Amino acid sequence: MISGRGTNLQAIIESCENETIPCEIALVISNKSDALGLVRAKSHNIPTAFVDHKKFGTREDFERELIKIIRETGAELICLAGFMRVLTPLFVNAFKNRILNIHPALLPSFPGTHGNRQAIDYGVKFSGATVYFVDEGTDTGPIIIQAVVPVFDCDTEETLTERVLAQEHKIYPLAIKYFFEDRLEVKGRRVFLKKGKKMDEFSHINPDKT
Ligand code: GRF
Repeated sequence: MISGRGTNLQAIIESCENETIPCEIALVISNKSDALGLVRAKSHNIPTAFVDHKKFGTREDFERELIKIIRETGAELICLAGFMRVLTPLFVNAFKNRILNIHPALLPSFPGTHGNRQAIDYGVKFSGATVYFVDEGTDTGPIIIQAVVPVFDCDTEETLTERVLAQEHKIYPLAIKYFFEDRLEVKGRRVFLKKGKKMDEFSHINPDKT
């Protein structure tokens, strides 16, 4: 589900096409008719649907329509990729632990909109991206995978966004791959990766010694 330019969608499409992730995209849904992501999907012969949230009286009515359309596809997983509508418990509970989202910050820092701008304004030395299972809160669900990027003195929101986005395009397909390999185990707030590798000693210091 998208609302905009769809670069994460593009990364997912490419991972499906080169069989890095074992799945097929059943449908791309946008609540914006002019979303560039719809053009990307069509150019890869992926079915698309435009569902205009403005046509529905309540969020729930909009979501009932989405649920119906999604169920008809038989999709096993829903990926939010720049989908700019808040989802209510009605939608979230219809697909419990089967909705993923990506956020451009290291949650729980900087939830909501403009994660990169919030990181710059706050002055953190590291930020990043997070893929998580959507729950009823805003960016509060169990975390599957995160990528860390440094924030440099010369960064603007634009340059940080670019650096973070490059990582988003790696970790979102990876999270989807883990899901379809049945390797994600959710226990409360923690998501465990079955047969995961322990990473080497981790130490990132920024600014580093000169
Ligand atoms: C990304 O920054 C993602 O983290 C956030 O929305 C943006 C979507 O970008 N949820 P794109 O449409 O995938 O290019």
